[in-house]
Amino acid sequence: MTKYKNLTIVRTVAEFREHVNRWRRNGETVGFVPTMGFLHDGHMSLFQRSQEIADRTTASIFVNPKQFGPNEDYAVYPRSEERDAQLMDEDGVDLLFAPSVNEMYPDGGVTKVSVPGLGDILEGEYRPGFFNGVATVVTKLLLQAMPDVAIFGEKDYQQLMVIRRMVKDLDIPVRIEGAPTGREEDGLAMSSRNTYLTPEERKAAPVLYQTISAVADKFRQGERAPELIQWAKVELEKAGFKQLDYLEIRDSENLKPVYDASRPARVLAAAWLGKPRLIDNVEV
Ligand code: PAF
Repeated sequence: MTKYKNLTIVRTVAEFREHVNRWRRNGETVGFVPTMGFLHDGHMSLFQRSQEIADRTTASIFVNPKQFGPNEDYAVYPRSEERDAQLMDEDGVDLLFAPSVNEMYPDGGVTKVSVPGLGDILEGEYRPGFFNGVATVVTKLLLQAMPDVAIFGEKDYQQLMVIRRMVKDLDIPVRIEGAPTGREEDGLAMSSRNTYLTPEERKAAPVLYQTISAVADKFRQGERAPELIQWAKVELEKAGFKQLDYLEIRDSENLKPVYDASRPARVLAAAWLGKPRLIDNVEV
């Protein structure tokens, strides 16, 4: 069994809760970073953010079956717990909660949390049930441990908005913090699924970020959304993207369509590049 300098690994809800309760009783604040593992530098920046704002940093690794559709990659989603734990240890994470599916959903777990509206558009339209799965597991994780603050990457911007709304509606007493998207040097948003890219696709992948950044600039300068979306579609096709699920300019909070840059807005996109589907977003 691997020995860690700093990290403790627990597998039951009771142990997870016990550690966090003890710290909080002792007056320490607790940060929490939920993950599905196969860590990259984007996750590391979330752990660092937690360390900046809380006394203790906790994280989870749970590949949540309820947020994968029947034709999605649950069975083959990359997993590397031993390596992830090593990285967490080096990064100063205090506690890793790594439950089994049975620990998380004894008897299957029939109760669902859903955030209609925000959870049905964009990603929700292309991945039906995805945000129900995310909202359900994140509600459970937050209630299991009750950290002071939970940190989520802006890479999954719609997920962050869904979680903020859910926490507000359900009065879950945990602060939600968004952290900027971790990017490779060429701009590609870091993601565990980037490992699915072939070398050739990897070269083309940053075009998604370049294109949405250009759309954000042009929109700010007064160009119109429909023409920009059409232009972006052509750029992505030229770069080898096979299918654009959506590329939209939306209000930063409620994700409703916006027609000019007078309110804070975000460009959000999802497109297929061979096997992987890449998502990304930027602020206007
Ligand atoms: O963003 C993720 O990795 C997952 O959706 C999350 C928040 C850990 C819930 O399973």
